[in-house]
Amino acid sequence: MRTKSYLVEEAWKLLEDSVVYFGDRPVGTVAACDPTVEALNYDQCFVRDFVSSALVFLIRGRSDVVRNFLIETLALQSSDKQMDCFNAGRGLMPASFKVKTWEGGQYLTADFGEHAIGRVTPVDSCLWWLILLRAYVKATGDIDLAHQPEFQQGILLILKLCLADRFDMYPTMLVPDGAFMIDRRMGVDGHPIEIQALFYASLRAARELLLPGYKRDIYIQIINQRLSTLNYHIRQYYWLDLRRLNEIYRYRGEEFGEEAINKFNIYPDSIPEWVADWMPERGGYLAGNLGPARMDFRFFTLGNLMSVISSLTTVQESQGIMDLIEQRWQDLVGYMPMKICYPAVVDLEWRILTGCDPKNVPWSYHNGGNWPVLLWFLAAAAQKTGRQEMAWRAIEIAERRLSEDAWPEYYDGRNGRLVGKASRKYQTWSIAGFILANELMENPKYLSWISFDEDTEMQEWLYRLKELEASS
Ligand code: GLC
Repeated sequence: MRTKSYLVEEAWKLLEDSVVYFGDRPVGTVAACDPTVEALNYDQCFVRDFVSSALVFLIRGRSDVVRNFLIETLALQSSDKQMDCFNAGRGLMPASFKVKTWEGGQYLTADFGEHAIGRVTPVDSCLWWLILLRAYVKATGDIDLAHQPEFQQGILLILKLCLADRFDMYPTMLVPDGAFMIDRRMGVDGHPIEIQALFYASLRAARELLLPGYKRDIYIQIINQRLSTLNYHIRQYYWLDLRRLNEIYRYRGEEFGEEAINKFNIYPDSIPEWVADWMPERGGYLAGNLGPARMDFRFFTLGNLMSVISSLTTVQESQGIMDLIEQRWQDLVGYMPMKICYPAVVDLEWRILTGCDPKNVPWSYHNGGNWPVLLWFLAAAAQKTGRQEMAWRAIEIAERRLSEDAWPEYYDGRNGRLVGKASRKYQTWSIAGFILANELMENPKYLSWISFDEDTEMQEWLYRLKELEASS
């Protein structure tokens, strides 16, 4: 078997080969370099995919690539984003971009979803952009970049878009289906935990990046209020463990008014059969989604791990999530860390939720496939919670197959034993994720670039809210 250092070096060479140049400046990485299949849009640089590459570049002293990426994507934010003459919100960041050549010159074209399959809105891009900008500043100390007027303007445009008044009674962010890594119809519209965790982390990032002054003072107040209510809402209503499950199981429906215990009118009959067996005695997780008479009991990996990394969950809940992963290892890690969500939707539910999507058949792709990129999120969460042995175990599993299988995008099957049916080979975030997981384990200091401690700034808010709740 090839040694770890051989694998990491192979990955690093592949990562360097995936770099996209704009003129002579490196500005990103392509999504995949698989010469055997049609590129579709995998020859583009995706904002969400690049975050994994970017963190590796920051670690390896190539902050220039990240800086260029941040500058170029910021410029794209103000470019035309129209579909059928409809203008998208100004703060929106593209899902991906590409370098094009025309009459001997080069220019960047972006896709804000108007070209993407299913015309999905990339809500997560602007959130990732803020998280990455903060990581760049932490890694390089170059706060001046974030303080430049164009950057401040870009941050404010994102904040305006995310914090705008809407028809909504919850502090969580309402999004259409396929607004993030799961960028196809999968029943993840509404208030998916994947977006809420990124929203929370990005607000915390923005708070650190705003230049002191008049506008900052106003925005800090708005951000703090949102952070505290969002934090309260997620901890209070999304958390699931055996105790909570018992409560929901005995819920009464149709409660009106302030006294209601079952605030969202969740009917016990909507609890899927698998949950009661699957929920471990110790530990728990955040539900996938919550709305009127709707609780999605599926476990979503990125949302849960990002909640641990950003301290959206309490210290105890974070440990609970790691406990769950440890006890449901075969289901969630199996032969390739790790599953994007659990379990898969099947039969009629698959027909209704995915619209009969042949790529998202049960235990494949977004519908319960195993994605190697998620290895680094697991490593970061393990490092944060002091559960390092879990991360090492997962890395060892990935090592056995990733390089041999030519760094696939995803794996299929209940335990991720088969290379995904339509999976790309040499998928950049699989490659970068492997390096990053190893780096995070060997040098814990890198964790602080991407993680957040319990928020003391808004503790006061929480305290007041709880008092209010108790007195009502
Ligand atoms: C697929 C994935 C998406 C990813 C893109 C590029 O569309 O669903 O999450 O960003 O490929 O790798």
